[in-house]
Amino acid sequence: MGMDKFLTKTNSIMQKEIFEQPTVVKNLLEKYTTDDNKIHLDLPSDIDNIVIVASGSSYNCAAIAAPLFIEYADIPCEYEYSSEFVLQKKHFITPNSLYIFVSQSGETSDTLNALKQIKKEGVKTLCITNAQNSTMWNLCDYKILSDAGKEESIASTKALTAQILCCMLIMLEIKAKQGEDISGYLNTMHRLPAYLERIKNDFEKIKTAAQLVSEYQNISILGNKNYYPVAKEGALKIKETCYLNVMAYPFGEFMHGHVAVLNQKSIVIAIIDEENAQFAVRNLEKIKNDYNPKVICITSVQDVKSGDLNIYIKTKRKMKAIFGSLLTLQLIACELANVLKKNPDRPKGLKKVVKD
Ligand code: AGP
Repeated sequence: MGMDKFLTKTNSIMQKEIFEQPTVVKNLLEKYTTDDNKIHLDLPSDIDNIVIVASGSSYNCAAIAAPLFIEYADIPCEYEYSSEFVLQKKHFITPNSLYIFVSQSGETSDTLNALKQIKKEGVKTLCITNAQNSTMWNLCDYKILSDAGKEESIASTKALTAQILCCMLIMLEIKAKQGEDISGYLNTMHRLPAYLERIKNDFEKIKTAAQLVSEYQNISILGNKNYYPVAKEGALKIKETCYLNVMAYPFGEFMHGHVAVLNQKSIVIAIIDEENAQFAVRNLEKIKNDYNPKVICITSVQDVKSGDLNIYIKTKRKMKAIFGSLLTLQLIACELANVLKKNPDRPKGLKKVVKD
């Protein structure tokens, strides 16, 4: 079905870059993987712990990736906002620590300052950046180009997707070096472009969601584990493009008091996958009984029907659902800006590269 039939033609750069994501993913996989299921990235041979440092959307990439390093590659992984990292007096370093700096521009002052600070400790550094020959690129020992193509939109979309994919590939390469067979994971990755293409084309649901959200000022986005930073990213996108105060929470934590902000003039967007489905649905029912907000579910599970609107991003694979939920939230933010008559390409007071 032709997407144009449903698409609001905003001609925004943000929308164009969101739509480029299946191609960005395809190109990156071609660049860094081989036909015989090997990954080739610029990585140190021994890594026994990782610290990821970044700001904004790139920080959300770090928060999405860290639990994957722990869960799939058994590597301890921490992450920190660049601006907080520089205030930290001591950092945990072993001879095989790897400090990863994630930055679309490679020039963000906070991240650059963090990199310069830790370099003094002689630790191994790696950057994931979209800007070859940027200052971070030149300073780091190891470099991975996220290669999303020039990102013009101040609200980062395709660059973030590319960064997350790079982190997943690093994780899988570490796993391969541990002697594990990663071909199943890579097959999943290769199905990502077609999966994202399908989600991108379900534009009717996105439009309905954006219309619904536009009627509310009190917006909460809920998700667990890797999906909590996905929720934060969704909130960041809506803040940047629509200037609304959107909050993101982990599902369980939300019930510890935060839930009191809800009423029938609120809307909740819940990200639900296989792992948290039971827990999320139970909490949503309680939330609906007690506060009666509108609910949109973005879910990879077909039988979840807890929302007033349910957007299905069907897959059993977490490594696909992360991208699917992210893409859905990006599309909702972009379309919401359109409904609210805001220009997503001109967010007030924001710059593409945040410098001192
Ligand atoms: C994201 O939409 C933002 N515009 C912003 O948070 C950005 O991700 C942040 O400033 C970090 O930029 P960088 O990736 O270029 O370092």
